Order: sequence, then structure tokens, then C-alpha cells
Amino acid sequence: MELSPESLQRIEKLIPRYPTKRSAVLPLLHIIQEEIGYISKTSMEWVAKKLDLNPMQVYEVVTFYPMLKEEPVGRVQVKVCRTLSCALRGGYKVCETLQKELACPLNGKSEDGAFSIEFVECLASCGTAPVVMVDDVLHEEVTPDKAGDFAKELKSSSKQKA
Ligand code: FES
Repeated sequence: MELSPESLQRIEKLIPRYPTKRSAVLPLLHIIQEEIGYISKTSMEWVAKKLDLNPMQVYEVVTFYPMLKEEPVGRVQVKVCRTLSCALRGGYKVCETLQKELACPLNGKSEDGAFSIEFVECLASCGTAPVVMVDDVLHEEVTPDKAGDFAKELKSSSKQKA
């Protein structure tokens, strides 16, 4: 695993701030994901060694938190709520349209690496269902009839960023 000198420095500063080394596991994983985009097996082993843990203990943390990814994700992460209010207002249809328009499989990433799509549980905006989170931004009332245009907007803004 290759980390930049900046990330390594952040990690070295961070560990002594915790009463026990093992408490730094989550912040370390965040730093790695921030830089590399996901947590590989090699990264888990590296963290385990750094914090005197068993790799299985790090693996358990990675698999417990949905925001930690074991596989590379797209540059833009699309999360579609599938809980009751959103499901009743067409969340599944919205997700289908987004997959088709962005050429991206569910729980995978598009071939160009631009997008990844996944279902998530309630995003705490049930009154404005269906909702879709794009990176850290919540989009409300993304109804099935708006999903096609919404996908086009996502595509054009991702091209501007690239
Ligand atoms: S059910 Fe979708 S935000 Fe709550």
C-alpha cells in the first residue's frame, strides 16, 4: 500500500492522541480511504500492524461501517434510499433509471470509473422522498419521472469535474 507522505504524517500524529492504539483504527481507515478510495486487504493488514491488532479485528471494523469500501468506487458515489417512504414513492424505479442512464451496475462502478451506485437505508428526509445522495449532497423529490433528467445532470457535472 502506497500512502503519500502527508497521509503518513497525519497517521503518525494521530495515533498518540488516543489512550490506546486500537482506538485509532477508524480514523486511520478514513485517512486511507480518503487517499486511495477504498480499503484493500493490504491496507487492513498495514493498519493492523501499525496498531498492534489482528487483521481480522480491522476487517470487522471495515465490514461493520457501510461508508468504508472494500472495493474501488466511482469518482461520484450515488446512494439511493430504499426505505419505506422512498420505496413507496418510486425509489426502486429511480435506482433502475440511474443505473441505465449512468451505465452503472448496482453495487458496482461504471466502466469509465465515473459513478458507483448503491442502495442505502433511510437518509432521514422521508418527507421529501424519494431521495438520492450524491457524494455528500442530498437531492430531494427525485421522482421516477425526474430520474432521467437527474442522471443527465449528474453526467454533465461529472464531465465538468473530470
Ligand atoms: S425513507 Fe428515504 S429518507 Fe427516509
